[in-house]
Amino acid sequence: MQNPFKPTAGATPPDLVGRAGLLDEFEYGLRQGSGAPGLLTIITGSRGIGKTVMLSAAESIAREHGWAVISRTANPGFLAKVGDDMLRLLDELGDGPPTRKITAFSAAGFGVTTQLAPERIPDWRRTGEELLRLLDSKGTGLVITIDEIHAVDRTEISQLAADVQHFIRDGLPIGLIFAGLPSAVSDLLNEGVATFLRRADRINLHEAAIGEVTSSYKELFNEGDIDVPQELINEAAEATEGYPFLIQLVGYYLWMEAERAHSKLDQAGVRSAIAAAWRRNALVVVESALSDISDKDREFLDAMAEQEGPSTAAQIGNIIKSKPSLVSKYRNRLIAAGLIESAGYGKVDFAIPGLRDYLRQ
Ligand SMILES: Nc1ncnc2c1ncn2[C@@H]1O[C@H](COP(=O)(O)OP(=O)(O)O)[C@@H](O)[C@H]1O
Ligand SMILES: [Mg+2]
Repeated sequence: MQNPFKPTAGATPPDLVGRAGLLDEFEYGLRQGSGAPGLLTIITGSRGIGKTVMLSAAESIAREHGWAVISRTANPGFLAKVGDDMLRLLDELGDGPPTRKITAFSAAGFGVTTQLAPERIPDWRRTGEELLRLLDSKGTGLVITIDEIHAVDRTEISQLAADVQHFIRDGLPIGLIFAGLPSAVSDLLNEGVATFLRRADRINLHEAAIGEVTSSYKELFNEGDIDVPQELINEAAEATEGYPFLIQLVGYYLWMEAERAHSKLDQAGVRSAIAAAWRRNALVVVESALSDISDKDREFLDAMAEQEGPSTAAQIGNIIKSKPSLVSKYRNRLIAAGLIESAGYGKVDFAIPGLRDYLRQ
């Protein structure tokens, strides 16, 4: 049996730990059709918590119900690409030769990704309507998923939201799921560019419970005929802190160790797998998260790393010698970047496991 773990961003894991029931409302919405609340959903959570994987899970559910799916990441120009996907679906699903004379929406630039030209927006909406009516006549609909909405400017998101709202008002069968970092999503909703999105269902992803990690490991190692004592499974599960990317990393290195040791894991093997997983987590998640922050943000994080648990603004202000107003500015910026999160009144803590240890070294 091959190593089943998938320690790669966006890769669907062998077992979706701790996510049971989260997409029930969405699935129910698919059965209700146009205007059902679950068809408008926003998934939030920190890096590596499993947002992209949840989008994939929602897409599979939609396909199982016969719905068409368009899946895009919110890069500049994504709206035009969604338009191209709609044209492609129309050609695949429509009967008879296409009568449309619409050229690809993304063909505007010379190889450069550009935003959908304003004069093309009516075409985009007409194409969407045509596709949705066609799907409606077949008793299904269209689900659009947009990943990483924190990375894109507001114009395209609000345009998409406006169009989807229009489709819903016309009773057309459309679902829209976004995923992004929590604070970016809050900003988006508060700025009022897409007020109708406030009605969306919010799924805020958290770490899984350690017990669920333990049972998942137990089952997977059983299937692979790998012999590992219960207390070592517990130790490995605890080392993941319930954090999905670490669940995959630790599992992956455990499996690798077991392959080396004739399907038997002992304490030394488990500990070295855990160490390898944490090194890799630091490299992938922590370094990429730290790569684009300012020196002052870094000082803020270093000050936090001096504490054992959550830090207060006063503690941080003392160490980095900044006024409360500045501290609060850095704080908001780091929360928006998904590096820290608020931890009770006036306190903040790291949002990425391993970040404190990494900064201390
Ligand atoms: N519920 C889960 N249980 C176990 N592993 C998961 C779960 N969700 C995601 N993963 C794993 O975690 C890693 C990060 O998932 P991803 O969806 O890319 O996170 P995000 O998009 O939030 O950064 C991947 O390796 C994925 O296989
Ligand atoms: Mg992702």
